[in-house]
Amino acid sequence: MSIKGIRGFKDILPGEIEKWQFAEGEARRLFGLFGFSELRIPLLERTELLSRGIGASSDIVGKEMYTFPDRDGDSLTLRPEATTSIVRAYLEHNLYLKEPVGKYYFIGPMFRYERPQKGRYRQFHQIDAEFLGVQEAEADAEILVMLMRYLTDLGLKKVSLQINSLGCPDCRLPYKAEIQKFLRTKSESLCEDCQRRLDTNPLRVFDCKQATCQALLAAAPVVLDFLCADCRRHFERVKTLLNGLELAYSVNPRMVRGLDYYTRTAFEVVTGELGAQNAVCGGGRYDGLAEEIGGPPIPAIGFAIGMERLVMLLGEESNYSRHPDVFVAALGEEAQRRAFILLQELRDVGVWAEADYGGKSLKSQMRRADKMRSSYVIILGEEELRKGYAVLRDMATKGQEEIAWGEIVRSLKSKVGSEQ
Ligand code: HAM
Repeated sequence: MSIKGIRGFKDILPGEIEKWQFAEGEARRLFGLFGFSELRIPLLERTELLSRGIGASSDIVGKEMYTFPDRDGDSLTLRPEATTSIVRAYLEHNLYLKEPVGKYYFIGPMFRYERPQKGRYRQFHQIDAEFLGVQEAEADAEILVMLMRYLTDLGLKKVSLQINSLGCPDCRLPYKAEIQKFLRTKSESLCEDCQRRLDTNPLRVFDCKQATCQALLAAAPVVLDFLCADCRRHFERVKTLLNGLELAYSVNPRMVRGLDYYTRTAFEVVTGELGAQNAVCGGGRYDGLAEEIGGPPIPAIGFAIGMERLVMLLGEESNYSRHPDVFVAALGEEAQRRAFILLQELRDVGVWAEADYGGKSLKSQMRRADKMRSSYVIILGEEELRKGYAVLRDMATKGQEEIAWGEIVRSLKSKVGSEQ
């Protein structure tokens, strides 16, 4: 029996990869316009960094990390997200001393031991952006504008932005006490997970998918009502800025995030088109993370888009699939020899040229050109060779013209160039 790939780890094949390339290319283009630079982080980090950064009471650290001892006994973990690593790199290389504002993005795979299902994998990919060094609400609004413009540029329509404020440690403390008090009165009806969360991280109860827990939470106090004056002002300012930009959002006071480092603004982009895994993007402010992992206090905000989910929303594959500019169909040995040279000459000037080898019939070669959805076909037979020209067929209009042999490369280059 052949050996298969690992559950939750998927191959991305041609046919689909074009969408990934499109999404990545658009991110690089747009994020560049907002002044973000790429920063690449390693696949592995010290487990201790991630537990401290993401938080021991989070599901990620508690049960989803791929952790193993290195050969010398150090505990290492495959990165389950990028934010903590980017902040580590930012501190480790003293980037904050060189430039007080850091804007970075990273695109790559993450690893979480979750139960695989549609839209949820054990290796998945994120497009991550982090804006460090600015505490003002303008940074929050800017990151949200960049995110939503990106999704719009990709042509996604059925996505919506939900925002919330999770406050700072000062206002979260009284809220935590309040929600614990509320939940304790109902603890008998909570699921096992939520009973555990009640003591460790009561905010996470809001993330529970169980209908009974959700029903109980309808009357629960929400963190928005407990914000201190500064956090309240900050959140108001974020909303004012978004309104000024006419960026659509809704406030979801029950949206909490699964990672412990969040403070103040938190957000998600959700869609109704992906079933249970409806979050395309998650993010928020994490003003305490740099200090948590041993650095000075550095305010920051960022987001990560799940690429698998994003790509699922991109629609028909044919919109992204690549097809050759020209297919060179040759008949007879001498024509095949000349066609082979022509193929390379076309590629030399940037024209994607394809051919079929093995001396097949013209009909069979045309079928192949059609299947590959080539824009043009050059037909080169013995008669054409003798007379010094080739037939150029436009596959969209079905029109044909004769082109002198010496003119083919130049002519195709200009046709293809004007279409791009
Ligand atoms: P997160 O909400 O854990 O946030 O993940 C962000 C996005 O990654 C999710 O909205 C989802 O689209 C995708 N995602 C997460 N887990 C999986 C999975 N198992 N399979 C497929 N897609 C998945 C973070 O990771 C934060 N680091 C975001 C952030 C950046 N906050 C501030 N800066």
